[in-house]
Amino acid sequence: MYNFVETHFILLNDAVRVAAYERAIAAIVKPGDVVLDLGTGTGVMGLLACRAGASRVYSIEAGGMVEGVRNIVRANGFEDRIVCLYGDSKDLELPERVDVAITDQAGPFGIGGRLFGSLNDAHRRLLKPRARMIPSHIDLSIGLAELPQGWATVKFWDERPLGFDMSAMCALARNVAYEVKFSPEQLLSAPGCVLSLDLAARSEPAMGGSTTLVAGRPGTLHGLFAFFSAELAPAVSISNSPLGRDSINRRAWFLPVERAIALEAGDSAAIMVQLLPTEEIVMWQVAVTGVDGALKEEFTHSTFKSTLVAREDLQKMRPEYMPRLSASGEVERATLELCDGTRSLRQIVQEIHIRFPKNFRSRDEVAAAVSRVVVKKTH
Ligand SMILES: C[S@@+](CC[C@H](N)C(=O)[O-])C[C@H]1O[C@@H](n2cnc3c(N)ncnc32)[C@H](O)[C@@H]1O
Repeated sequence: MYNFVETHFILLNDAVRVAAYERAIAAIVKPGDVVLDLGTGTGVMGLLACRAGASRVYSIEAGGMVEGVRNIVRANGFEDRIVCLYGDSKDLELPERVDVAITDQAGPFGIGGRLFGSLNDAHRRLLKPRARMIPSHIDLSIGLAELPQGWATVKFWDERPLGFDMSAMCALARNVAYEVKFSPEQLLSAPGCVLSLDLAARSEPAMGGSTTLVAGRPGTLHGLFAFFSAELAPAVSISNSPLGRDSINRRAWFLPVERAIALEAGDSAAIMVQLLPTEEIVMWQVAVTGVDGALKEEFTHSTFKSTLVAREDLQKMRPEYMPRLSASGEVERATLELCDGTRSLRQIVQEIHIRFPKNFRSRDEVAAAVSRVVVKKTH
C-alpha cells in the first residue's frame, strides 16, 4: 500500500539526490525569481528556492500531502513567499508566469510520473518563454544485461504455477518494464545513450533513438538495463545508472528479450527505442549480431503489449458505440446538476437519496457517492 510518509522519507534520505538539487537550485534560482515547484511533495524544492532568494514560489501538489506542505511552509516562516496549491497542475491557473520550474518525477528510465504531460502544459500556460528548468535535460541510456532473476520473472508464467497453464501471461510478461536495482556484474556491455530530451522544449508525441552495444564479456543476454541521467544545472547531474558510484536511490528498468541468448565477447546488439513520453509507453528492438557478422536473433517488444484492456471496454471505444448512462452514471449526472450553487451538500445528499432509493443501502452510502463527485468536480 502506498504510504506518502515512507515515500518522502526515502526521497529526502537520498543524500546524493538532495545535495545535487540543493546545488542546482542555488546556481539557477536568482534573487527575485518566481518559481514553480511542480509536484512539491514535502515542499522541499520550494523551500530551497526561497533559500536561494526566490521572491515567490508556487508549490503545486495533486495529493493530500499538500496539507503537510502547508504546515511545513508555516513552520519555516515562508507563508509570505510560498503559495501552496492543491490539484493537478493541468487544472490550476497561476496569477503570473514563472522564471524557473523545478521538478523531480523522472522514473526508472527518465520518463514517468506524468512528467511530460505536465511539462507540456506548463510550457503552454505557466512558464515564461525562456524559463529555466531544473532538470534542463534528461538522457536515456541502455545496456545489455545478464539477469537470471529478471528472466525467471518472465519464465514463471510458462512453468505451470499450481499446475495450471498460465502461459498466456508469458506474452505479456515479456513486454513489461521491470523496476530493478542492478549491480555492475549483471551488465554485459557499457551503456549507450539512445535519447536526449530537452525539458525547455515541449516534448514530441513520439520520439526514438538507437545505439549499438558490444558485449564486453561472454554471458547470457536476458534483456536490457535502462536508466536516465538528468542535468540539473551546469556541472550538476543526477543518475540512477547501475555503474555510477554516485547514483541516486532509484531503480533502473529491466527490459526483457524474448529468448535468452548466449553472447561471446565482441558480439554486438543494435538497439532501437521508441517512446510515447506522455503515454509512458516504450518500444525496444534488439538485433544481435555475432563476431562473425551473422545475425543471431532479433526481437521487438513494447510495454503497450502488456497493457490489457477488457474486450468490454474496447467495445466502448468504437466510434459506432452508442453509450447509455449506467446506474452510477445517472447518480453522478443528477449530483452534478444539483451542484448549481444554490444547494448545500446536505440538501444534495437528501435529494439523491429520494431520487435513487434502490441504489443505496444507507444515507452514508449516498453521502459517500455524492462526496466522490463533489470533491473532484466542483469548486
Ligand atoms: C517524486 S515526488 C517528488 C516530491 C518532491 N518534489 C521532492 O523532490 O522530494 C512527485 C510528486 O509530484 C506530484 N505530482 C506529479 N505530477 C503532478 C502534477 N501534474 N500536478 C501536481 N502534482 C503532481 C505527486 O503527487 C508527487 O507527490
